[in-house]
Formats: sequence, structure tokens, C-alpha cells
Amino acid sequence: MSTKADATAVILAAGKGTRMQSQLPKVLHPVCGKPMLHWAIEAAKEVCDEVVVVLGHEREKVLATLPSSIQHAVQDPPQGTGDAVRVASPLLQHQGVVLVLPGDAPLIQASTLQALLEGHKDALCSVLTAHITPQEATHSGYGRIVRDEHGKTLAIVEAVNASPQQKALTEINTGIYAFNSAWLFNEVLPHLKAHPPKNEYYLTDAIEEAAKKGRLQAIEHHDLTEVTGVNDRIALAELQAQARLQINRDWMAKGVRFEDPNCTYVDSEVTLEADVELGPGVVLRGKTSIGAGAKIGPYCVVEDCQIAANVIVASHSVLSGAILEEKSSVGPFSRLREGTHLEQESKIGNFVEIKKSRIGAGAKASHLSYLGDANVGERANIGAGTITCNYDGYAKHQTSIGTEAFIGSNTALVAPVHVGDKAIVAAGSVVTEEVPADAIALGRAGQKNLEKAAQRFHEKRSKEEGSN
Ligand code: UD1
Ligand code: CA
Repeated sequence: MSTKADATAVILAAGKGTRMQSQLPKVLHPVCGKPMLHWAIEAAKEVCDEVVVVLGHEREKVLATLPSSIQHAVQDPPQGTGDAVRVASPLLQHQGVVLVLPGDAPLIQASTLQALLEGHKDALCSVLTAHITPQEATHSGYGRIVRDEHGKTLAIVEAVNASPQQKALTEINTGIYAFNSAWLFNEVLPHLKAHPPKNEYYLTDAIEEAAKKGRLQAIEHHDLTEVTGVNDRIALAELQAQARLQINRDWMAKGVRFEDPNCTYVDSEVTLEADVELGPGVVLRGKTSIGAGAKIGPYCVVEDCQIAANVIVASHSVLSGAILEEKSSVGPFSRLREGTHLEQESKIGNFVEIKKSRIGAGAKASHLSYLGDANVGERANIGAGTITCNYDGYAKHQTSIGTEAFIGSNTALVAPVHVGDKAIVAAGSVVTEEVPADAIALGRAGQKNLEKAAQRFHEKRSKEEGSN
């Protein structure tokens, strides 16, 4: 982006968002993992030094998500978009340009805002417009751009206030504007009048005032998706589908392979390197990063994980808050929870759950195990069915397993407990005491064989069956 304009952005985020039918404030509904409002803030920050967000409905919740560099004004109660800009007035210089944008249009690009600011020059108002189809015009809630027979913009009329002819107009107000700040705050906003049906003060009335002065510009934008305002969950889902495809296309351009980009979900904060391969149904959430050449198989869900180069995560694995070093492998059907750290070339197989544990380089837990609060040494082998009994009903305890230790199948390691380097634990053991390095621990009942007992049993049964 080129140098920032001498403009302050005001982002409107005080509305209730009634049409979302939600406890969550509308502007906090996420699009590809990031609240709508934050998309708008990030675009605005690229073109303006200062950004003011107007908060109202559930403002504490919204405020809690804002970075400290963002100023806010409070509109309580929300009385329309004109009133919302007015409450930001004490925070602004009333000189230069004020860029106004809604908090519910997350896909707006900084380049579009930049073009609006560059085109604004000495107009009193420049409004960004877009086109809907005649079919959409039958039900759309956007304000309509009213032009005279020469194409000159006269006003914006809100859908609820529009006549049938006006409602059929297909040029709409995106809700994104550049204003001459002094004019807006000193000459227009103090004089707005409330409109039925909700007695709201409309920012759109400023457009008519600028038109009367002959200093209004309507700048048409060709991409409706980019400027779409989300009012309900249907629009949110549609917009998110668009955002998702755009994210996937951007990663493909950088060398990521998507087996099916239509059903792969990559959050906006995820980072991927070249030659990452993503199977169908993969969901990557939060601040996940994946290194070059790593393969994530079908239907894996990965949240807030750091995955190094050439890692393999096989299908249907669920990973959260885990670190996977180079060439480690996981799955299919593995579950890695918060605080799991897999060192290089370690291998976690199917139906293994790991929590808050470090698995040493080259160590293996190939089948059906639970490792919690454990430290597993390099090249150790964890047999099928091994369980760290980390919880005694009151507190969690640690298990440590030495380098090249061998834990036989179906072992219960009752924590706190330590198994030394190169020690062997016999299958089926319940280990309650330390196993020294190089020792073999046999922690199970000795086997007793009753000679010929099975034979006697079968003979008895066949006799009984014969007599019946
Ligand atoms: C508004 C415009 C409409 C435009 C549309 C674009 C007005 C009167 N109408 O309608 O012409 O086509 O946006 O999406 O401006 N907000 C406040 N305080 C309020 C009311 C709203 O901060 O008192 C905020 C909302 O949180 C939201 C934004 O302003 O982020 C837009 O409000 P919304 O109620 O969605 O306006 P629309 O009916 O969509
Ligand atoms: Ca809206």
C-alpha cells in the first residue's frame, strides 16, 4: 500500500444486529475465524493512521477484542448511522478527510479504500456504490442511489422508506464514504432529523446535502461481494464461502496443494508454506502454521498448532495447541491436545490421545494409548494400550519415560512415576514404582497353568449336552 492519506477512519459497530438473531454482537461474528469488525479495522488501518470504532450494543464484549491502538467512542443508545458518526466527533480533528465504513462489511479491501480516498479530492462526500440484480432489488435492504435523468446523484433512499420505483433501483449504497470532515461535523451532523420507522438519524442524509451543493461523487465499484454488508446469517454464510475460496486461491498461488478447495476450511490467520498438501474436509483454525511439504490428510481438524516441514498428519486426526517438529507423523485417528510437543521423527498412530506431553525424537506410540503429563525419551517405544494414569481424583501427576525405554502393551503407568533409560516394562504391568535404567519391570500377577483343565471342561460339557 502507498503512503497513508491524511484521513481518519470511523468504523460503525454500535448497532444491535437484530437480524442475526444472536446473543453475540453482529460485528463479532467470525468470518473465516476472524470477527467481521477486525477485517474492517485491518483494511482501514492500511490506509488511515487513526481508526475510531463506534461501540454501543454489548460494547464491553466488542471492546475486549480490540487492540489498544484503536480508539473508540460510545453510542448509547444506537440511534442510526448519522448519530453513530456524530458521537465520534470529540475524538476527531475536524480537518482533512474522514473515511466512514460499516463494521459489518468484512471483505472490503484496503486498495478500494485507497482508491476512494484518492478520488475524493475536494468533494464534500464521495460514496462508494455497487450494483445488485433486479431480482435482488425486490427484497434487498440496501439504501438505493437515486440519480436524475442525466445520471447525477441526488440522494440515497433507505429500502424501508423507498417507493416501489425507488426500490427497483439496482445501484446501492455500500455504506462506505469519504467526507470532508469539517463540513460533515460542523454543517451536517448537528442538523440531521430522525426518520421513521425507528426514529433513526441517517448518515445517508449527508449525501443529499452534498448533492445540493454540487459536491457529491458516487464512485461505482464493480465487485459487490467485496462491499457486501452482512445483516443476517444467510448473508454471513454466503460471504464466508466467498472469503474462504479467496483464501484458498491465495494459498494455491503460493504453492499449496488443495485436493478440493471447495471443502477445505482455512482461517484467515493460518500460514502455510509451499508444497503443503491439504486433503478434502481439512479444517485449519486459529493461528496454525504449517511448514513446507507437510501433508494433512482428509478430514483433519487442526487448531492453533505449529506444524513443521514434512510432517504427516493422516486422516481424521484432531489436533489442538500442539507443536509438531519436522518429519513427525500422526494418525489416522489421533488426538493431540493442548501442550503436546512431538520432537523430530516421532510417530503417533491411531487412537492415541496426548495431552501436555513431550514425545522425544524418534519415539513411537503407534496404537491405542493415552499419554498425559508425560515426558517420553528419545526412541522410546510405547506399546499398544499404554495408559498414563495421571489423575488420582485430586491432582495431576507426571510420568517420565527414559531414552529407548520399551513399554509393553497394556501397561498402566501410575503417576508420579519414572521409567529409566533402556528399561523394559512387561506387557500388562501396573507400574507404581520407579523402574531403574536397564531394568525389566514385571508388574502383573504371575501366570498359572492348570494342566488338562480345558480338556476336562470340554469333555464335561459335551456329556451334559448329550444327556439333554
Ligand atoms: C446502512 C445504510 C444503507 C446501506 C447499508 C450498507 C444508513 C441509514 N443506511 O443500512 O444505505 O445500503 O448500510 O450496508 O446508513 N450502526 C451503528 N449505530 C447505529 C446503527 C448502525 O453503529 O445506530 C452500525 C452497525 O453496527 C453496522 C453499520 O452501522 O455496522 C450499518 O448498520 P445497519 O443497521 O446494518 O445499516 P443498514 O440497514 O444495513
Ligand atoms: Ca448493514
